[in-house]
Amino acid sequence: MAKLSTHFLDLPVANPLMNASGVWCSVASQLEALAESTSGAMVTKSCTLQPRDGNPEPRYRVLADAGQLFGSINSMGLPNEGFAYYLHYAQRHDHEAKPLFMSLSGLTLDDNLTMIDSLKDAVTPTILEVNLSCPNVPGKSQIGYDFEAMDTLLAEVSSGYQRPFGVKLPPYFDMAHFDEAAEILNRYPLVAFITCINSVGNALMIDLDSETTLIKPKDGFGGLGGDYVLPTALANVNAFYRRCPDKAIIGCGGVKSGREAFLHILSGATLVQLGTALYEEGPGIFPRVLDELAAIMDDKGYQTIAEFHGKLKTIA
Ligand code: DHB
Repeated sequence: MAKLSTHFLDLPVANPLMNASGVWCSVASQLEALAESTSGAMVTKSCTLQPRDGNPEPRYRVLADAGQLFGSINSMGLPNEGFAYYLHYAQRHDHEAKPLFMSLSGLTLDDNLTMIDSLKDAVTPTILEVNLSCPNVPGKSQIGYDFEAMDTLLAEVSSGYQRPFGVKLPPYFDMAHFDEAAEILNRYPLVAFITCINSVGNALMIDLDSETTLIKPKDGFGGLGGDYVLPTALANVNAFYRRCPDKAIIGCGGVKSGREAFLHILSGATLVQLGTALYEEGPGIFPRVLDELAAIMDDKGYQTIAEFHGKLKTIA
């Protein structure tokens, strides 16, 4: 039987699956459900310094049609309980049982630096991820699409935190942007991992019958997840895996079964996140996807993840 255990930044992890930030991780009861699930790791909802209510509802909708294509659109607007709440959870979490990531998404650079200072002082084994790609706060653009702001933020976080951390990136769609983003990230050795991708931002889904947008905030514009984003996610995972050989990649986007999890790992992901599918199915999805992943490995004769991690073949 295939062995699913792996390592992330020298930490042993029971398996490569975890939640995508934002899904099943906003309040303690959800985080506790993730801690008790068979996921290998888990991440908290992106938080701001102060609690926020987020955007008006409806702000999340699942998309499915007769052809079964499946996805989601959301413009949550960073509803969260505030940094102190997630730090408190992190201080109670059993980090040996399961690594915990904390996702920070400050509304300003100063807010990010304030949170990072507190996290550093709290001395927990929590792994810091700075979210550079929230598409849903009206009037705020994504740092990941502003390379100068990204460079400044990475310099400030590196000198403030002085420990390894990671970043959550938006999807890129141009080779020149992969090159430029990777070149900036490679300037910062403390950037130990890169999570690719956040939702494909500012999509528009429309109900044919009512001729109305599916969600209310931002005139219906929101981040796209699910089947629609798998090829974009795989491209971003592989693009950064190739360009950032000293960093780990966490894959996110379009995973709903063992098949997509396998493809993310083949493209270079060390850990693989579940977003839309976890939202729909709940934490019971983890044992299903793990079984499917193990079955694919068994079929192919792979006994460990290392045997196919990053081993994507191209056509000569
Ligand atoms: C939200 C959405 C994101 O994609 C993200 O990275 C952070 C926050 C949100 O709308 O709450």
